[in-house]
Amino acid sequence: MNAPPRSFHVKSFGCQMNAYDGTRMAELLEAEGLTAAAEIGDADLVVLNTCHIRERAAEKVYSDIGRLKRADGSTPMIAVAGCVAQAEGAEIPRRAPSVDIVVGPQAYHRLPAMVAEAATGRRALDTDMPALSKFQQLPARRRQGPSAFLTVQEGCDKFCTYCVVPYTRGAEVSRRWTQVVDEARALVDAGAREITLLGQNVNAWTGTDAAGRSGGLDRLIAELDRLPALERIRYTTSHPNDMTQGLIDAHRDVEKLMPFLHLPVQAGSDRILKAMNRSHTRDSYLRILDRVRAARPDIAVSGDFIVGFPGETDADFEQTLDLVRQVGHAQAFSFKYSPRPGTPAATMADPVPESVMDARLHMLQALIWEQATAFNQTTVGRRTRILIERNGRKPGQRIGKSPWLQSVHLETDAPIGAMVDVAIVSAGPNSVGGAAV
Ligand code: 5AD
Ligand code: SF4
Repeated sequence: MNAPPRSFHVKSFGCQMNAYDGTRMAELLEAEGLTAAAEIGDADLVVLNTCHIRERAAEKVYSDIGRLKRADGSTPMIAVAGCVAQAEGAEIPRRAPSVDIVVGPQAYHRLPAMVAEAATGRRALDTDMPALSKFQQLPARRRQGPSAFLTVQEGCDKFCTYCVVPYTRGAEVSRRWTQVVDEARALVDAGAREITLLGQNVNAWTGTDAAGRSGGLDRLIAELDRLPALERIRYTTSHPNDMTQGLIDAHRDVEKLMPFLHLPVQAGSDRILKAMNRSHTRDSYLRILDRVRAARPDIAVSGDFIVGFPGETDADFEQTLDLVRQVGHAQAFSFKYSPRPGTPAATMADPVPESVMDARLHMLQALIWEQATAFNQTTVGRRTRILIERNGRKPGQRIGKSPWLQSVHLETDAPIGAMVDVAIVSAGPNSVGGAAV
């Protein structure tokens, strides 16, 4: 039996939405009077906020749990949250009896009650996807860094054949307009200068404003644009099919909307896109980017790629490389295909051998690296404004973000959270150098 915990540590893996959820869980626990422990080893309660998107995620969680055992053989109170909790449920305490709490991504508003239950020696498990959203039951936002995440949309109805998200996060749901605007206002009041709107398909968000008019993400962005102390708006992740003309136009019309677009395409071959059930083609994807660039010529494009989807041939993969060359990414993430239990692709014929996947990943990443470097070089000589986010390694050095989401290193005594005018003076693959002007 565990004593009621007085301190906690939340460790989040995976996507930005999981980072947001981790912050909200921390806020919940703090509202209950627990204090955050900087080190995992000092916490009475450890929350492992897990990711299920790729590769043996569950195995990793079990080994993380094992490592929580202290020198004297005792363990802290352990909660497994996030997408592995949703997917594995009661299997987790069966395999790892030291786990006290299993809580899914739609149920974590109940975490304090579950902690109380676990303190009485009972195990607490909740992987429900309740109709009433958890958001209504979370405490007020508190002060964080200058750049904050705000979940506006969750879940996915698109059912790409490789992806677990529709199963772990549930159906596509938009948070209500007023709730989102209120949370944005609270974040700005707490010191946020930049807000990144989050959703698995964030551009599928729809809502109805106070006057009863309905609209999409572009309308929400226009409303947030009116918050005086908010300097910047971003959004991620988008699906090509939900890239409305209104949202594209917002990149031209809304100054606070940053010129950066994360628009995953996954593969360059129509045959593979079809097998992935992506419901767009290579060409329709490229045409969307043409329209985005017509609206905002300097936009930085980012993406996600999967190599080695079942049945992917050398010729298919060559088309992915070709697409990447055509787009000229400012950055991109690429992954080896990983069969996820319960997804349609997991039982597809023609798996690609690991060694072939390795080689393809290597080639793709080298190409993306080249393009990112080239993109960063095109920004050298530009004058722009950056948001200072953290200290650099050397004294007097700070790191900020450019509108194009580049990390900018510079010497300045401007504090964290300040907006600083800079000239970009040098470029590497992962960051650029700036000089205050
Ligand atoms: N295998 C490999 N990568 C995947 N992704 C999603 N599911 C899988 C999978 N089964 C990648 C996609 C997605 C990103 C978040 O993770 O590229 O856009
Ligand atoms: Fe991972 Fe997807 Fe869950 Fe995010 S939503 S934590 S990427 S499985």
